[in-house]
This record gives sequence, structure tokens and C-alpha cells, in this order.
Amino acid sequence: MRRSMDGVNFLNLKLKNPTVLASGILGLTASSMRRVIKVGGAGAVTTKSFNKDWRKGHKNPSIIPFEHGLLNAVGLSNPGIDEMVKEIRKFKQQSEAPIFASIFGRTIDEFAEVTQRTVEAEPDLIEVNVSCPNVHSEFGQPFGDSLSDTARVTEIVKKHAGSIPVSIKLGPHGPGMGRLARVCEENGADAITAINTVGPGMLIDIDVRKPILSNKTGGVSGPAILPIAVKSVYEVYRTVKIPIIGTGGVTVAADAIQLILAGATLIGIGTAVYYQGIEVFRKVADGIQSYLQKYGFNSIEEIRGLAHE
Ligand SMILES: Cc1cc2nc3c(=O)[nH]c(=O)nc-3n(C[C@H](O)[C@H](O)[C@H](O)COP(=O)(O)O)c2cc1C
Repeated sequence: MRRSMDGVNFLNLKLKNPTVLASGILGLTASSMRRVIKVGGAGAVTTKSFNKDWRKGHKNPSIIPFEHGLLNAVGLSNPGIDEMVKEIRKFKQQSEAPIFASIFGRTIDEFAEVTQRTVEAEPDLIEVNVSCPNVHSEFGQPFGDSLSDTARVTEIVKKHAGSIPVSIKLGPHGPGMGRLARVCEENGADAITAINTVGPGMLIDIDVRKPILSNKTGGVSGPAILPIAVKSVYEVYRTVKIPIIGTGGVTVAADAIQLILAGATLIGIGTAVYYQGIEVFRKVADGIQSYLQKYGFNSIEEIRGLAHE
């Protein structure tokens, strides 16, 4: 008889399966996030990253599909913390599934302020975006490019987060995933989300002979970055003890299984939602289950990190 997945434990949260809506994808309203759980079958959702004040983001075109994924420079557009606190509260009234609040700040003080306000909405986890590669022109280098800035952001968010767990979202840039993950762990992070988009990259319209994105450059996501995500998760797992939300390039169950074998506990999915719709969560979760059965494993825990042995 086909046994369904028992669910996954992550920092004392119980998810019905390990899939999570990645930040920036359908994560602006309670109703769209609820659909991702109810109709799409995801185990948890992450909001779009938000900060103190609303942000318009970059001008269109801000997202371009290409053969192996997406190039985007949405530019962290968001309605601001007041709106997002309302949406998180609404989601929590409507759904049992965990919700992760993704936050960012332009300064260390803003990270503190946004964390303080976010706590009021009681999300199940605060994910800290220190790694968006599309806003250099406004913010300078991402905090996640520097070990000391990453340490300071982690420390200040943890100080204000109270009992809500904190995951630091890293990108594969700067000083390296292992070293970054270690300073996060040393400064109290409860988890690591790896990875954000990669780049920035550029695509050029050969008829117009100019970069396609209005911002010229953007972050690369989707199948093109799977090998970078797998290697990043592998490196983080080897370096720290805290759990990992493996994200990047997951399109089918086999991709998610690679991330779990590398050490991920949860699997973030973003770009595949553009290509396959929200059903992708259920397909990936079912595929993981079939894999466990095929090889006679009883749970996901049994395969986590196996690629290291
Ligand atoms: C259109 C778009 C918007 C995104 N916005 C955010 C964001 O606001 N905050 C964030 O932490 N990551 C953001 N990301 C990154 C994703 O959450 C994810 O880390 C990345 O796309 C890799 O996963 P994927 O290949 O499954 O898309 C965005 C990605 C895309 C494609």
C-alpha cells in the first residue's frame, strides 16, 4: 500500500511535505499564499521580501524568461511592512501551514525595526534576505557579500526576533557559502536558506542590440542554477549544524532529492511556479515520496545528507 509522507519537522514546525514557496513568487497576499497551500499542495509559504516603507521596484521589463530559467530585476518591490503584517495575520487565520516572513533593510537599523514590527504578526519564521543581487545601484553591495555585515545583521535580527526562529538567506557570492553560514550560526541563526538568485546576469535583445531588462542586469534563477544550489547546500551542510532551506533550480522531484541528499531539510521552489503553475509543489512532493518507496527508505530524514557519506 502506498504510504503518504508523514510530514517533515523543521525547527519544531510540522509541515505536511518539505516544499516551500520561495520568496518573491506569489507571496504578496494572504489569498494567493493560501492557494499555494490548498490547491498547490505546498508545505509552507514565504512572503515576498518586504522592508519598512513600500518600494516601487525597477521599471518593466523586469522579468525575462529564457531557455533555462528567468532573469529578473524586480528590485524588491513591495507594499511595505504595514500591509505585509496584515497579510501575514490574515494568512495565519486562514491556514494551518507555516508562513515565513522574508524581510530586508537598507541599513542595520532598518533590519532591527522591520524585525520588531514583523514579530507582531507572529510568522513561524523570519527569513532575512541579505543576498538580493539586483539592487546594487541603490543599496551598494548586498550585506551578504561581507562576513562582518552578515554577522551584524544576524545578531540584530536575532536580538529582536524573540522566540521566532530566524533563517538567513544567502547567495553564492562574496566570501563563500561555508564561511557565511558559519558566521550566521555563530551569531544565533536557526537556519540557512540557500540560495538566492545568482549573478547578476544579462541578456541582450539582438534586434534592438541592447540589454533587455530596464535595469540591464538581473538575478538568474531556475534550472540554470541547480548545480550551484546543490553545491551551496552541500557546503553549508558540511560546515554548520543548523537546518537548510535548499532553494534554486528545482523543477522536478529529482532536483529536490539532489538538494536533500546534499543536506537540505526543506525545498524552496520559485521559478518553476512560472513555468508549471502552483501544482509543481504537489508533483515534487509526490515524486520525493515515490523515490523513498522505490529505494525502501522510510522517511526523508533517512536520505538527508547521504551524498556526504
Ligand atoms: C521574480 C523573482 C522575484 C524574487 N524575489 C525575491 C525576494 O523578494 N526575496 C528573496 O529573498 N528572493 C527573491 N527571489 C529569489 C527566489 O526566492 C529564489 O531564491 C531563487 O529564485 C532561486 O530559486 P528558483 O530557481 O526556484 O527560482 C526572487 C526570484 C524571482 C524569480
